Amino acid sequence: MSKRTKEILSNMTLEQKIYHLEQLPTATFLTGGTYDIVTGPESKLKLKKDMIYDVGTTLNLVGAETMIDATSNYLNGSKYKIPLMIMQDVIHGHRTLYPINLGVAASFDRGLAKELAQMAAKEAALDGMSVTFAPMVDLVRDPRWGRVMESSGEDPYLNGEMAKATVEGYQGDMGKYNIAACVKHFAAYGAAEAGRDYNTVDISERTLREYYLPAYKSAVDAGVKMLMTAFNIVDGVPCVGNKHLVKDILRDEWGFDGVVISDYSAFEEQVTHGSCEDKKEAAYNAMMAGCDIEMVSSCYAEYLEELINEGKITMEQVDKSVLRILDLKEELGVLDNPYRSVDVEESKRVQLCPEHRALARRAAEESAVLLKNDNILPFSKDVSSVALIGPLGATGEIHGTWHCGGKASETISVFDGMKSILGDKVKYAQGCYAEYDSEDTSLLDEAVELAKNSQCVVLCLGEKQEYSGESYCRTDLELPQIQYKLLDRILEVNKNVAVVLFTGRPLAISRLDKTAPAILNMWMPGTEGGNACASLLFGDSVPSGKITMTFPRTLGQCPIYYNHYTTGRPKAQEDDEKFVRFTSCYLDVPNSPLYPFGYGLSYTSFEYSDLTLSNNTMNRTDTLVASVKVKNTGKYKAKEAVQLYIRDVKGSCVRPVKELKGFEKITLDVGEEKTVSFEITEQMLKYWNRDLEFVAEKGEFQVFIGKDSTCKPFASFMLV
Ligand code: GLC
Repeated sequence: MSKRTKEILSNMTLEQKIYHLEQLPTATFLTGGTYDIVTGPESKLKLKKDMIYDVGTTLNLVGAETMIDATSNYLNGSKYKIPLMIMQDVIHGHRTLYPINLGVAASFDRGLAKELAQMAAKEAALDGMSVTFAPMVDLVRDPRWGRVMESSGEDPYLNGEMAKATVEGYQGDMGKYNIAACVKHFAAYGAAEAGRDYNTVDISERTLREYYLPAYKSAVDAGVKMLMTAFNIVDGVPCVGNKHLVKDILRDEWGFDGVVISDYSAFEEQVTHGSCEDKKEAAYNAMMAGCDIEMVSSCYAEYLEELINEGKITMEQVDKSVLRILDLKEELGVLDNPYRSVDVEESKRVQLCPEHRALARRAAEESAVLLKNDNILPFSKDVSSVALIGPLGATGEIHGTWHCGGKASETISVFDGMKSILGDKVKYAQGCYAEYDSEDTSLLDEAVELAKNSQCVVLCLGEKQEYSGESYCRTDLELPQIQYKLLDRILEVNKNVAVVLFTGRPLAISRLDKTAPAILNMWMPGTEGGNACASLLFGDSVPSGKITMTFPRTLGQCPIYYNHYTTGRPKAQEDDEKFVRFTSCYLDVPNSPLYPFGYGLSYTSFEYSDLTLSNNTMNRTDTLVASVKVKNTGKYKAKEAVQLYIRDVKGSCVRPVKELKGFEKITLDVGEEKTVSFEITEQMLKYWNRDLEFVAEKGEFQVFIGKDSTCKPFASFMLV
């Protein structure tokens, strides 16, 4: 806190302090805004009309001019004229969109993640933004959940590395082109049962701490300014009112004294959950937990004064929350300039500028994952004719549902991208519709005819972007039958087919894996997706992405993830394809996934050799070094994400069969060889034991280095 914010606080009335903890849509303050807070959609909020212009923060609006309008109207209407802090979901880009986060994570490139966040922050800041509700760091294991697309995947270490890089990218030195980050959703939102959004989360404290909390902690350690609580319960209590989670762990154990905000209307949803009698108890629980800002509900406004008068909440608690908000406003500079970095002219120059498009394109290229390639790709640019087919081939709707200021009209489709390289050698036919329940075969024949008369085929299949994202959960992870019908018909007339997959989640595409000669997963690649895709298909760039969330053979295997426990009856890997009674397996499907964590192909090949470990004994203060030589033995200069895994062979609690503990992405020219080394310290070996102590227990540890999570151990050491 500063002298200035303390002085502002001392001049605030109780009513003003309480309203400073409320958050409304920014559109509330737009000239002629539809969000008439008294009669509009938010009229259910019991807010005093004469205090609406003294809420402390707002959310969700894009555009420099609209920000100026809303801010001006707010200041004109406000009695106390403390400037707003304006927040927005800048999840994977503001106007220049890059791949969904599950794609950026697949790049295994910390530096890229940071650069992308820096770019997004600059675009958002110039449009008047102060805070982004990102990074989303929820660990995910169930691809039915629509929000896996926002996550970095199933591994706590990788999630933490991406969280750190992203927070640093957004916040930088908190200068003009930076914005404050808000890590979310605390906590374990990704553990929703059955992959159904907002559903029950029921995990042990040990699992919570071992898998779901580390990435939030990485964001806190990286200096994140804000944190958002999740909709779900943890141990039976909704996060927003969960004292153990927010006060005991976040505030007291981790020492986080930043701003905590609820998710949208989550305060009031405590009543729906059944953990609170009414909004008064909801306000009490949220304040006792340590939640500062109430996102678009009115429990604080309606009941905080009463709770203070009853002595249940102290003025000191309220002051602390208000001060956290004022201090962040001061750090962001809005107390000096209510319009902060908004700049209409500079914004026009910067949004979608060539440098930003180039970075978004690089990200889309590095996030793409080559899942299969039977010597089909890359196609030659000398090809005489290319058929581009599929419902996702000529659309700009490939940027995901958190598209913020991004527009489909500004997004490069695959058709656009391929025409840039091939001119009129590429022809397009839609072939079918993208709706998962479509049975319309009326477009098939035209597409088959085009495929028949073309030298090669690029077939764009997968999910519409609306099939993943908040609330967009699915119970069927296969491709729609109509898309398989199209693929089968095309393969009858042309074998030179590469499938481009668009998806916001791992799909159970076993049938596609069996029939398609090549599969390039582009995720939802963003504004430059089409150019990146064309560049990869025709060899101007080489795929290097590796999945960070397991692709199942079938939904029936889910949840399926690489860092699982062995069980007391594991089925031997060599028996994977067969049923072995009385082992942990299925009658009908192998235990192995379709594609494992860390998997991704290249156009070149890499040879791993000389795996060495500096010592086979480790004291607590030692640092061991695990090294490997990696050689590019193929025909293309390419990148490779080299991965380090460690297995704690025995613990007072069972331990995973392996855990990612390091990764490094290297670039190798044809024939080039590099040595990659990883340091191993005691800190990396710690885990939450049966007594909930974070310790490294003595004993044997196995070390793995490889191209994905199926690598075998090459050495072990004893921690003494
Ligand atoms: C949504 C999301 C959250 C987002 C917030 C504001 O419901 O759960 O991730 O930041 O509301 O848009």
